[in-house]
Amino acid sequence: PRSIWLSRHGESQYNLTGQIGGDADLSERGMRYAKRLPELVLKSLGEENKHTNLTVWTSTMKRTQQTASFLPYKKKLQWKALDELDAGECDGMTYEEIEQKFPEDFKARDDNKYEYRYRGGESYRDIVIRLEPIIMELERQENILIITHQAVLRCLYAYFMNVPQEESPWMSIPLHTLIKLEPRAYLTLVTSIKADI
Ligand code: F6P
Repeated sequence: PRSIWLSRHGESQYNLTGQIGGDADLSERGMRYAKRLPELVLKSLGEENKHTNLTVWTSTMKRTQQTASFLPYKKKLQWKALDELDAGECDGMTYEEIEQKFPEDFKARDDNKYEYRYRGGESYRDIVIRLEPIIMELERQENILIITHQAVLRCLYAYFMNVPQEESPWMSIPLHTLIKLEPRAYLTLVTSIKADI
């Protein structure tokens, strides 16, 4: 039976400075995660399935491709639909900067994080809509490993776990953790492996 693996990209330079969006490179620690990832995948496949061929999907952003770069699989695909939530005018800012510059927006987002759309950017609802083709394609495929971003992963995870999408903006999807989903008839089995780096 097929599985789907999910991971956030390794820690990026922007994660270190607390800036959102952007197209930053991985930090040193993020790079260590990228190097460790092939081993985590093997561990999660188990000895009897270690030769299983995965297809790796990333976003078009450097930090997801750098995270995928040590994986030994030939099929790697980049999807624009897997790019991080577009923060529009707030791209590159920290949450503190947003709160100072756009206090009303900051509050509006806290009041309804699912519907709040960044000025010139996106809401979680917008992400759910752009993920539709990804989900359709996923349902047709075998063994896919998706390396993407916090907001996008929350929406994908909520979809597979049958969590209402309105709750997805608050879900915790930690860095440096490989999540394996095994969809079954009535439920999805989940196992996650945290990299110790
Ligand atoms: O901080 C990392 C990040 O991926 C940002 O690029 C993005 O705006 C944010 O997380 C999404 O999380 P939240 O919706 O909780 O702000």
